[in-house]
Amino acid sequence: MKVLVIGSGGREHALVWKLAQSPHVKALWCAPGNGGIGQERLLGNGEQVQCKPVAAENLSALLDLAREQKADLTVVGPDNPLALGIVDLFQAHGLKVWGPNQKAAQFEASKVFAQNFMERHGIPTAQAGTFTGVSEATRFAASLGGKCAVKADGLALGKGVLICREMAEAEAAIQEILVQKSFGAAGASIVIQELLEGMEISLHALCDGKVAHLFPTSQDHKRALDNDAGLNTGGMGTYSPTPFLTPAETVAVEQTILAPWLRGCQAEGIDFRGILYPGIMLTAQGPKVLEFNARFGDPETQVYLPRLKNDLFELLSACAEGALGRTELKWSPQPAVCVVLASGGYPGAYARGKVIHGLAAADALPDTKVFHAGTVCQGGDILTSGGRVLGVTAWADTLAGARQAAYAAVEKISFEGRQFRRDIAAKALK
Ligand code: AMP
Ligand code: GLY
Repeated sequence: MKVLVIGSGGREHALVWKLAQSPHVKALWCAPGNGGIGQERLLGNGEQVQCKPVAAENLSALLDLAREQKADLTVVGPDNPLALGIVDLFQAHGLKVWGPNQKAAQFEASKVFAQNFMERHGIPTAQAGTFTGVSEATRFAASLGGKCAVKADGLALGKGVLICREMAEAEAAIQEILVQKSFGAAGASIVIQELLEGMEISLHALCDGKVAHLFPTSQDHKRALDNDAGLNTGGMGTYSPTPFLTPAETVAVEQTILAPWLRGCQAEGIDFRGILYPGIMLTAQGPKVLEFNARFGDPETQVYLPRLKNDLFELLSACAEGALGRTELKWSPQPAVCVVLASGGYPGAYARGKVIHGLAAADALPDTKVFHAGTVCQGGDILTSGGRVLGVTAWADTLAGARQAAYAAVEKISFEGRQFRRDIAAKALK
């Protein structure tokens, strides 16, 4: 089988690495890929994975690529092409593709849609309102005493959520999105949610429109600095499983979140085939949904896929065909920890083109995998090319062991400006 993966981050490197282990996969391309993806080899025949310089948003060029290469399956990593309708386009041309179609991708692409859907189907979430006008939005924010999350409706590179603690901040946030239009058309409407208190965790479920298989839990670390200080980022590290969702709460999540979500999809004719990734706040009143994503998390994927025992090609094929009912997910009991190495200054301005040293030494450690994100391969060197540069994952019999192993691997890797959190998974060990 010939497979095309779309995207260029650490998530896509993890997808490629895991797909390359499938004996079914005889050729694997990634568009556009990164410096690490192009170094992977297929376990079955030793063929090298090839990166193709086509952007993840260039749907027509991606379609041409998939047709030229006669891809048997295309796997879509990021949210943008999904929101643009890549799945509908490929299907219309008779190509098999994994990911939600445009209608289903709305769970992530429109926060207004997602919020209204949760309310229609009784899914526990924050008290919220959706608005296009400043005055009603301001009145609602005032009813929450200004303590609220103001969210641009559409995709805004992960920056469209403004957390407010007082009315002046809420007013400024409403102005920024609705009047100054800082997020352009993505901010034509907004969702305002009450601020939920509690521990935040990540859930993933693989869905084929008929069944939804819940993954083990994981937790991301979104702030740039230790102890959850600093600015919000794409994610500075993850671990799985997290002790914070008890087995009883896991059952509650299945019954109060996943089951009504799936019933709601069926009732509304939404054929969701892909990953549903809800961000969950564990509140005193139980788990509540903060938002839905419609794709694998990054860097959640970098801890999930090393733990997954199934053949990923078989799993995603079955999902795309709507045949997940016959499949059971199998997981290694070993916890995994991923520490992200970022460029100095991230998520603000940062330098690129710094030579990365020690990658081979880190990768040579047992039960360790270095996933590349913002890297390029140039003249035999691997150089930094993005904010999040690498995701260093390790697994072991205990979470403490996995954490220690991940940080031991981090110590082997150096580049100018290297920045990372030293407390990934520390909360879970307290
Ligand atoms: P989102 O893109 O909706 O996940 O929001 C980004 C981050 O903002 C989340 O990961 C949370 O940490 C935080 N957040 C979003 N909504 C809320 C809320 N209603 N209450 C508290 N924190 C929130
Ligand atoms: N882990 C954050 C995200 O994938 O959106």
